[in-house]
Amino acid sequence: MVSVKTAEEVKKIAEASQIVAIILQELSTSVKSGMSTEEINTMAENMLKKYGARPAFKGYRGYPASICVSINDEIVHGIPSPKRIIKDGDIVSLDFGVLMNGFFGDAAITVPIGRISETAEYLLKTTKESLNLAIKEAKVGNRLYDISSAVQEYAERNGFSVVRDFVGHGIGRALHEDPQIPNYGQKGKGIKLEKGMVFAVEPMINEGDYRIKIDADGWTARTLDGSLSAHFEHTIVVDYDHGIVLSKVN
Ligand code: MF3
Ligand code: CO
Repeated sequence: MVSVKTAEEVKKIAEASQIVAIILQELSTSVKSGMSTEEINTMAENMLKKYGARPAFKGYRGYPASICVSINDEIVHGIPSPKRIIKDGDIVSLDFGVLMNGFFGDAAITVPIGRISETAEYLLKTTKESLNLAIKEAKVGNRLYDISSAVQEYAERNGFSVVRDFVGHGIGRALHEDPQIPNYGQKGKGIKLEKGMVFAVEPMINEGDYRIKIDADGWTARTLDGSLSAHFEHTIVVDYDHGIVLSKVN
């Protein structure tokens, strides 16, 4: 069942999401070549303390850290480690979620480190734009897979592929609520969107093909062909003209 949130509920999700956005923005300027992914996790946890909020991912199905840090061919769910060092030319996906006052917020960005390749640059730009186009579709009267197909059409038109194994999701009192929101699908299909539905939309786009593999750690998802992957995510609320981004810095 896909729930419609009250204005009060949307406000609380917005508050959690804003903290996520602030922390991601701060991390995006702090992450430097030579730093370990564990240091990023520590920074995120320290920033969170002053808000009295909880990290949403820590302990979720046994996930051991507060943030997911996924580098280059890693798609999502990279586990921070003191041994994993970021280097110049990397693209680093940061996926972070927060629980505050009973509500969740969830967002992700992919950050370029130093000078990155033209392909990497184009992949980041395309993935970010696919999310923006998807958010435009999150409006009353549209259907769920209008969001999905916006991502797919744009990514594929630009020569990239859409990860099938992970999806966006409803969000609110739980991190993952109905509906599942694939990043591929048929325009005009799926449930009708209503004002007040709150979604985490999160395209994961690969440079090569969409197949993935999971590391021995049971979490880290990476491209099967070793190509680059990018991830952007926003928590949004459906409104009349377009989705409204909640995970932004006001
Ligand atoms: N944004 C991702 C999701 O919604 C992050 C989950 S990480 C996990 O699935 F550790 F919590 F699984
Ligand atoms: Co999510």
